Amino acid sequence: MAASSEKLMSQPRSYQQFYKQSVSEPDVFWTREAARIDWVKPFTRVCDFSNPPFAKWFVGGETNLCYNAIDRHLATRADQNALVWISSEVEAQRTFTYRQLFDEVNRFAAILKSLGVGKGDRVLIYMPMIPEAVFAMLATVRIGAIHSVVFGGFAAASLAARIDDAKPKVMITADAGSRMGKIIPLKPLTDEAIQFAGHPPKHVVVVNRGLDKNIQYIPGRDMDYMALCHRHSGKDSGKDSTEIVPCEWVESSHPSYILYTSGTTGKPKGVQRDTGGYAVALAASMPHIFDMRSGSSPQFAETFFCTSDIGWVVGHSYIIYGPLINGCTTIMYDGLPVRPDAGIWWKIVEEYKVSVMFSSPTAVRVLKKQDPAFLTKYDTSSLRYLFLAGEPLDQPTSDWIEKGINVKVIDNYWQTESGWPILSAEPGIEDTPRKCGSPSFASYGYRIKLKHEETGLPVAPNEKGVLCIQPPLPPGCMSTIWGDDARFVKTYFSSFKDEQVYTTFDWATCDQDGYYFIMGRTDDVINVAGHRLGTREIEEAIQAHHNIAEVAVVGVADALKGQVPIAFAVVKNAAKTATPELAAIHEKEVMATVDHELGAIGRPARVYFVTVLPKTRSGKLLRRSIQAICEGRDPGDLTTIEDLSALDQVKQQVEN
Ligand code: PRX
Repeated sequence: MAASSEKLMSQPRSYQQFYKQSVSEPDVFWTREAARIDWVKPFTRVCDFSNPPFAKWFVGGETNLCYNAIDRHLATRADQNALVWISSEVEAQRTFTYRQLFDEVNRFAAILKSLGVGKGDRVLIYMPMIPEAVFAMLATVRIGAIHSVVFGGFAAASLAARIDDAKPKVMITADAGSRMGKIIPLKPLTDEAIQFAGHPPKHVVVVNRGLDKNIQYIPGRDMDYMALCHRHSGKDSGKDSTEIVPCEWVESSHPSYILYTSGTTGKPKGVQRDTGGYAVALAASMPHIFDMRSGSSPQFAETFFCTSDIGWVVGHSYIIYGPLINGCTTIMYDGLPVRPDAGIWWKIVEEYKVSVMFSSPTAVRVLKKQDPAFLTKYDTSSLRYLFLAGEPLDQPTSDWIEKGINVKVIDNYWQTESGWPILSAEPGIEDTPRKCGSPSFASYGYRIKLKHEETGLPVAPNEKGVLCIQPPLPPGCMSTIWGDDARFVKTYFSSFKDEQVYTTFDWATCDQDGYYFIMGRTDDVINVAGHRLGTREIEEAIQAHHNIAEVAVVGVADALKGQVPIAFAVVKNAAKTATPELAAIHEKEVMATVDHELGAIGRPARVYFVTVLPKTRSGKLLRRSIQAICEGRDPGDLTTIEDLSALDQVKQQVEN
């Protein structure tokens, strides 16, 4: 064997060597990893970085995400479970083998094609956690179209903004979702959003679950999913098999999806992902980071259980694409971790012999409030690792679950923008010791820099710096902001004058052993129960209330949710908040406005009314000082404040 091909085949077995190869010989490294997926046409170049900071991975290669997630497994895994859907909300369970998933996805692809969706068109998916949402996503990428999944908890105005940005040809929704057994209608929100939108979709496909009896269809625009399924199941033409829709082979950098995320401005950013780079990144992360062993045949296929929602990046990568590309069985769970009781997740682990789980620290903190007997009620011995991400992981929470179910907890750090872990232990390579509160080290491919906020110089060990990534960003990371290359460069690559680096907007330190610690955001993004929200977005939602003149929202530390939004508002008509009773009524009204504009996930925990907001003389809101007061800390340097009494008002309100 020639030396170069030997290099391609052999994979270093220590974290240090593995990481080193990924950054010193990226072409060798990523060529080897790219062999984990199927290409219909091989790539001619590993990475084209001729137009920084834009990176194109696996140039010239042609592939398809759906093919890699389903079709290529049919020869060996047709009868293996691909997707297991469990709903504790509607007390139902459905299981799909790879063959059955193939049929469902093909039928959905045929439906989309019949509605005129083709390569590059957008399909907006506003759905609860049901299998049809997965079929819709996979069907979209099968035909080379681009999906944009909007979390079902977002309200009509937020949905409308995303419709106008993505300009979808077709939208897919359901009559309703369910939370805590309460029906949450989605179709009326879809209708309202489309009414607001400047670029309404031509058609809306509605999955009618029979939950909302008052569902209305708009003739000509709305189509019933079941009726469409019947038309495309082959039965009408006398055949009894599903229509097969060939995969559309796309060049590696063809966009697979857009996923909106919050930033400093009120306008969400459409994170655009490619096809080939994303498939390779996920295919590699399953064995290396998550230590999943799907093996070459179904006997060795393991089950992965990610408790996120398909509306978030974790759901995209690790409920759907990651496990399926790797031939695993994936669990999709619709419900809360405490319904019908706090043993539900462990019951699922026992029943499906789950090997690896992925969840959030908040979810574990929710469980921690319940009877610990649930932790030992079921046999969870199949579980090797519990990966937790999305927000800081505190030691008591980590220790509690680690001991409670005897599992190794792995804190990992990443973002919607990256699509897969930026920092993590990689037990599939080497089971390195972990330090609590640290997501360990840089994942292979990521060249991390901790830069001093002002000078841009590297910080010393244990000194706080801005966590940056030297481009090119590795495969799987965002390729740009949908429709706005200039915003991509300005937002992410323009923080430092000395060099063009990607900034994560997170503070971090690195200790003398190389372990990173995340210290919170550098911008106005907050993290509520692992959900990322922009304080500007919440402020804009509050301002939709007719009596609000001005408002400041800050994220305040919370024992359960990590952070909660707290609002300080100046009203136009002070009579409406003149007494504590009136203020309480007004507070509820403002909260209801946020529910309507943004969705209940953005609802502030408290709305305090003040007559003036703390600002600098140049008019900048002193959010960090407000936040410090809310958390009982020192408000910091106040030499630039315009009116000191404004901070006193904040203090008084919080202390009352
Ligand atoms: O502030 C960091 C925090 O969550 C942000 C990204 O959120 P999102 O785009 O929703 O993606 C979540 C993907 C897991 C980050 O900028 N964050 C994420 N993971 C951690 C974290 N903070 C501390 N520790 C983590 N492990």
